[in-house]
Amino acid sequence: MTAVALIAGLVIAGGAMAAPGDGIALSAHDFTDDATTTVGLCTFCHTPHRAQQTKLLWNHTLSSLSYSWSDTTNTTNGTPLPTFDNTWQGVSKNCLSCHDGTVAIGDVAWFDATPNQNLFADQHNLPGDPRLITFNNPGTGDMAGNHPVAHPFPFQGQVSTYNSVTSGSEVVASGWVADPTAGGIRLFNDDGSGNVSAGAVAGQSGIECSSCHDPHNGSQVLGEYFLRGTLTGSDSNYICLKCHNK
Ligand code: HEC
Ligand code: HEC
Ligand code: HEC
Ligand code: HEC
Repeated sequence: MTAVALIAGLVIAGGAMAAPGDGIALSAHDFTDDATTTVGLCTFCHTPHRAQQTKLLWNHTLSSLSYSWSDTTNTTNGTPLPTFDNTWQGVSKNCLSCHDGTVAIGDVAWFDATPNQNLFADQHNLPGDPRLITFNNPGTGDMAGNHPVAHPFPFQGQVSTYNSVTSGSEVVASGWVADPTAGGIRLFNDDGSGNVSAGAVAGQSGIECSSCHDPHNGSQVLGEYFLRGTLTGSDSNYICLKCHNK
């Protein structure tokens, strides 16, 4: 192998080479090179048949943990921090099925007409990894230290109820971008019966992991870490200013 070919091989094996917004292939969510068997791009997360749940045709084994914030009960503006588990219809539990570190990355329900496989070469489950979201108390559902998710968003400056949680009395309209979806943020709505779907609805909007990140590294991703805004800077593309008016 020539030196050039060797370097190219190393780069591809290292993964995570897709630029922000360039799609899943070669991104940190492209596991095709890490799998023990030849798979396609979607398999680790979705399957057309025999899924864990119809919603999202979800293939990855869900964590059995319940998520909550151990170190405080509410945000500064008085909104109670939520609890949720794998029965919650919001997408954060799907992300946490890999990012809470309790389920092997390759643990899927179905692939190539075979159930319950572990498709990942090293059973990797993120212990001690910066990608472990429950870093404060690994192996538990303790979200302490993390930005709220499965949590109401004051869309159009209005108090919202989402995941049975209502925005606190100090959540003032002027603190928020009225409609962050115009800037590429994904909001969700909860019809009050636990049915969650994408799209903002005044009075019942909320945020999930995928409000800030697109796991497919799609065209709304502007920065590192699949962010729907930039990781750096101070203009209106900066991820924090996509929602907060500060
Ligand atoms: C690392 C996990 C992961 C991989 C790999 C992945 N997806 Fe997804 N996908 C998700 C998650 C999580 C959601 C929910 C996103 C949301 O609600 O914002 C989703 C949502 C979807 C949706 C429905 C909502 C939407 O955003 O359109 C479709 C369709 C979809 N994925 C198709 C695919 C296809 C096709 C592939 C392979 C080419 C793929 N996904 C690969 C995790 C993944
Ligand atoms: C099938 C398991 C799986 C699912 C589901 C999953 N991830 Fe990941 N994700 C990973 C792994 C493993 C890595 C680290 C890959 C690496 O470093 O090679 C990762 C990396 C990331 C990164 C870092 C990207 C980078 O460029 O370093 C972010 C951000 C992320 N995931 C967010 C999410 C969000 C948000 C969701 C849900 C919408 C999600 N993930 C769903 C397994 C998953
Ligand atoms: C309010 C926006 C927001 C929400 C909601 C959010 N993230 Fe992030 N996430 C970020 C930002 C910004 C970064 C970059 C942090 C840094 O490293 O400076 C990041 C980084 C990450 C990383 C890379 C490692 C790291 O910690 O820097 C992973 C993995 C990740 N997020 C997963 C998730 C998952 C899973 C959820 C849902 C439980 C989630 N994120 C919810 C904004 C968000
Ligand atoms: C998708 C919209 C969205 C984005 C993007 C976003 N936030 Fe938030 N943020 C919220 C919501 C909703 C709350 C909860 C408001 C409430 O109910 O009190 C919140 C709350 C907070 C709080 C208050 C926590 C407390 O306990 O009082 C801080 C600080 C914060 N966000 C910082 C950030 C930072 C820093 C970023 C960028 C990395 C960011 N947010 C990006 C929606 C967002």
